[in-house]
Amino acid sequence: DGKYTVTLIPGDGIGPEISESVKAIYSAANVPISWEEVSVTPILKGGKTVIPDVAIQSVRKNTVALKGPLATPSQYPDIRLTRAQTDNGDAVGKGHISLNLTLRRTFNLFANVRPCASIKGFKTPYDDVNTVLIRENTEGEYSGIEHEVVDGVVQSIKLITWEASERVARYAFHHAQASGRKRVTAVHKANIMKMSDGMFLSACRQVAKDFPGITYDEDLLDRVCLQITQNPLPYADRVMVMPNLYGDILSDMCAGLIGGLGLTPSGNIGRDASIFEAVHGSAPDIAGKGLANPTALLLSSLMMLRHMNLNDYASKIEKAALTTIAEGKTITGDLGGKSSTKEYTAAIIEKLGKA
Ligand code: IPM
Ligand code: MN
Repeated sequence: DGKYTVTLIPGDGIGPEISESVKAIYSAANVPISWEEVSVTPILKGGKTVIPDVAIQSVRKNTVALKGPLATPSQYPDIRLTRAQTDNGDAVGKGHISLNLTLRRTFNLFANVRPCASIKGFKTPYDDVNTVLIRENTEGEYSGIEHEVVDGVVQSIKLITWEASERVARYAFHHAQASGRKRVTAVHKANIMKMSDGMFLSACRQVAKDFPGITYDEDLLDRVCLQITQNPLPYADRVMVMPNLYGDILSDMCAGLIGGLGLTPSGNIGRDASIFEAVHGSAPDIAGKGLANPTALLLSSLMMLRHMNLNDYASKIEKAALTTIAEGKTITGDLGGKSSTKEYTAAIIEKLGKA
């Protein structure tokens, strides 16, 4: 029927409500997508939580997925008492491996793209943030290789490979080229991490040679944090590419500049599949109350549409959503309004006709 099938993982907490909102907007905009909804409620296998196979198969088949928040119980057991090996901060012994990370690993989603742009109508101290962060998404500190060497001494391996560095660098340059950004900045701490970040930089420099039309430079992570919070404007023309953990932290900081994780989209890109997701949590305190803000999931879905070359639909929906926020009459509580998720959704839908 000329439709694309996309996997939808509604997720936990407010996930189902914000997913309903996106679905309603898509059907009103006649987006040629049919959703294949799957749950990734973890199942226990041999003491470990694993993602149900139907979910994995669905993403593998459709190659594109939209995902709401997945709650991972954060437990930080006393390591000196339990001697538990840890995996990304989650106790393997207790079976809580982040499902978010498991999905990224399962599909080798090597680049995490996080645009961050000021939203008109939502007031923050900044109105000119417009940057794109691209985070290496498969290794670094997230490789989860940790062990206790001797009593009281723990070692965590930050794994950096040339292959993954080169791959994410190339993706960043392609992304800059395709989106008309003139500069790629590699963000690093090679002054301290001389070998690992040093090699990340070498890979970026080598890739830069293939893109003579794009200016390449390098900046220290701490300096970027300092400068972008003082004046985000110089960062508005570029793409920043960096190792995994730096990207995790810097992307939350940049989200803070524009109003928080409720407004920032994210896309995990791989060769065989891509998963677009809201990075905020599952907000169990307001779940089921119809108060959640679906904007981050909606904006993530628009990245997905552009990834699928459905640009016209993306632009139309984006305009309707941003106008609704800018007018400020029908927005959710976290944005300073009084409207429910449904009212906000209806306001966007009403604007679609005029967009
Ligand atoms: C993110 C999240 C994840 C991360 C968590 C949920 C494992 O913070 O997508 O940025 O650390 O990457
Ligand atoms: Mn994060």
